[in-house]
Order: sequence, then C-alpha cells, then structure tokens
Amino acid sequence: MQPLRGTKDILPTDTEMWQNIYDTARNVLNKYNYKEIRTPILESTDLFEKCIGNFTDIVNKEMYNFKDQSERRITLRPEGTSSIARAVLSNKLYLNNQMHRLWYSGPMFRYERPQQGRQRQFHQLGIECIGSLKPIADIEVIQLAHKILTQLRCKEQCTLELNSIGNIQERDLYTKQLITYLKKYEKDLDEDSQKRINKNPLRILDSKIDKTQEILKDGPILQNYLGIESLKHFEQICQSLDYLNIKYNINNYLVRGLDYYNYTAFEIKTKSSSHQNTLCGGGRYDNLIEQLGGPKIPAVGWAIGLERLIILMKERLNTETIHKTIYIATEDLNNIEIIWDIINILETYNLKFELDITNINLSKKIRKASKIGVKTCIILRNEEIKKRQIYIKWLDTGKQQMINFSNLRQYIYYLKTIL
Ligand code: HAM
Repeated sequence: MQPLRGTKDILPTDTEMWQNIYDTARNVLNKYNYKEIRTPILESTDLFEKCIGNFTDIVNKEMYNFKDQSERRITLRPEGTSSIARAVLSNKLYLNNQMHRLWYSGPMFRYERPQQGRQRQFHQLGIECIGSLKPIADIEVIQLAHKILTQLRCKEQCTLELNSIGNIQERDLYTKQLITYLKKYEKDLDEDSQKRINKNPLRILDSKIDKTQEILKDGPILQNYLGIESLKHFEQICQSLDYLNIKYNINNYLVRGLDYYNYTAFEIKTKSSSHQNTLCGGGRYDNLIEQLGGPKIPAVGWAIGLERLIILMKERLNTETIHKTIYIATEDLNNIEIIWDIINILETYNLKFELDITNINLSKKIRKASKIGVKTCIILRNEEIKKRQIYIKWLDTGKQQMINFSNLRQYIYYLKTIL
C-alpha cells in the first residue's frame, strides 16, 4: 500500500527539521508581533474562484473540488491568503483594529504533476500584514522572510526577485499592448502561451520556453506603464532594501500565478537549476478583502513552501557534513598500526572521518572523495609510510602537505581548529 500520488509521510528522521523551522519562524515573527491564525482546510469553492481568479492554473485545473452530502461545492485549500481574507471578514476582525499581523502554517492541496519539490499535498508557512498601504509594510514582510531564511542558514542559497505590477488600470493598459504585440508572433509561441494569450496573457511573461522569452524581449515592458504612485511605492521599497542590505534583483517579467496582487510582487528563488526553485512567493493585495464584500483593507504577505525549504536545508547539511569529514585513502590496508593510530587521534578530537576500505586504487579513492565534496584527505602511500610520513591533501585547492608521524597529533589538532 502506497500513499496517494503527490503526498508523502514526514518521517521521524525529518520531523526535527520541521520543528526547527516552526520554532525559528515563531521566534522571529513573535518579535514583530505576528499572531498565529488557524483556518479550516476545507472552504467553499467560491472563495478561491473569487480570490485567486477563474483563469489561473490553480482554479482552472489544480483544485481538489468535491461536493459534500448537502451538494455544497467544497475545496481543499490550495493556499492560505484567500482563507485569511475570508477569516478577517467572517470574524469582523477589521472592526476594532485596523492592523493585523498574522502568520499561519499547514497543508495546502494542488493537483499538479508531482516531482522533486512539487507535491499535491504540500505545506506552507505564510504571513499576512493586513491594514497598511505603506511601503514599510512590504519591507517588513520581505525582511521577515529574509530573517527567517538567514536564521535557518539558507540565505546564501537564495535570491530575492522583485517587481511592481502596478494597479488594475495600469495593468489593463499594459495587458492590451502585450496582447497586440504577442498576436503578431502567435504561431511562434509555445502551446501553453498560445492558450494564455486571451485568457491570462500576463502569465506568458513567466514562460520557461526560450523562444517565447526571445519574443518577449522586444515586447512592451510593464514598468513603462506604471504611474507615479506605483513607481514611488516601488522606489521606496528598493531604497529601504538597499538600506537594510537585503540584496534583490528587479525582474520586470515577474508576475504571480494568482490574480489578487497589485503593486509589489516578489519571489525568493533558490539557486538550484530545477524548475521548482521558487521557495517563497508573495506580494501586495489591496483589493482582495473588498472583492470578497468587505471594506477596502490593503494587505501584503508571502508564503514559503516548506518541502522546498527542507530540500534546501538538507542540501546544506549534507554539504556541511561532507566538508567536515576527513577522508582516509590508503594504497592498501596492510599498514594497520598507522591507520588505527590516525583513527584514534581523530576520535580523540571528535572529528568525523571515513576510511575507504574498497578495492579501488589510491588515485581512484582520492578522485571519489573529491567527487562527493570532501575537502580534507589523508593519503597513506606505502613508500612514504616507510619513511614515517603521510600526506594531507586539500581536495578543493589541490594543495598537499607532508606530515611526519611525530607531528601527527599536533597536526590533527590543527585540523580540528580549521574545519
Ligand atoms: P504561491 O506562489 O502559489 O503563493 O505559493 C507559495 C509557495 O508555496 C511557492 O513558492 C512554493 O514554495 C510553495 N508551493 C506552491 N505549490 C506547491 C506544490 N505543489 N508543492 C510544493 N510546494 C508548493 C501563494 O500561495 C500565496 N498565498 C502567497 C501569498 C501570501 N501572497 C500573499 N500572501
């Protein structure tokens, strides 16, 4: 018996890492006075149709919809923002307090083709800063994502991409120009983009197909259609990020897969070459709550995909562990005394090591160590052992150093201080 396609058990070997993420996030968010909110996993299908948009991939083909015993249209939530907007209205949270800083985490459901980093049941950690139109709110949420990733020591593997997609009028004007331009090249576009021309043309900007990107290069750019207000908002965000020393790239082609955004759109991507490299997606949504029938309450937020975050953390942990491992490559395994002496010293200093006991020759052993990312290799050649010498090779630089047996303990102590 297997779990359903696109769903996974989270095993005890991994739960510690999940708990670490929650604890870190809770700690950081608590300081900024973000409060946890828990909404139901089931919502009415209407909610997501209204919020995310009927022509989006999520609503069109990815939702888990069903009818309950009373013929109500129900959906397993594909994301958290729509539910939070609904909760603000259902609970009249807007009455007493104009500002709400909320965070949430939990399972989301999208019927997508499963692959590494893409599941049908996945988990998000998200925050929503509700009640401010000011760029400082955008900066606060971006900074919080940056802080959480920094504390989880994943920041170095990530880049922040930023865009302003303006307000509805600006985007409509741009969309018309984009359609006119793309129609001229319709037959050269990829199949998906051809389908999107009339239904959701902005998503074409996000196409991964080279030919389509080539065509877009000479097309209209959204930035040129933005008015003073949008530009000013965006400029202030960029200035503050510079001040806070948070690095970002402006990506004029960044549009999001959900319709509710205006002004700021951003994504944090991992440097991995895989297509599932968007770790965090977010932006401003000033009209969503009003669109649901409530008052006009501006908001901004993001969600991080936790499975993708875990992949990143595991990659880092693997590299860190392997970087710290000392590899022992021997010409043969007959010089038992020196091998055990070295192991004893490594153990004394609490150093992680791997003795290669395979039958391959010495140079192949060294190549193997280098391939798996080992940095430090102790090399035992029979000729040198006779002279009571061994070599330490730094596989990342190719440099090596001869060590006399008499200095071995001292040298290994030195290794401990630098690894
Ligand atoms: P989203 O870009 O659709 O935005 O999803 C956010 C993140 O969830 C993605 O960057 C990705 O890491 C993760 N994710 C999405 N789909 C999958 C999947 N099938 N498998 C694994 N991970 C996935 C939203 O959901 C918005 N609600 C974010 C937001 C909050 N905007 C404003 N506030």
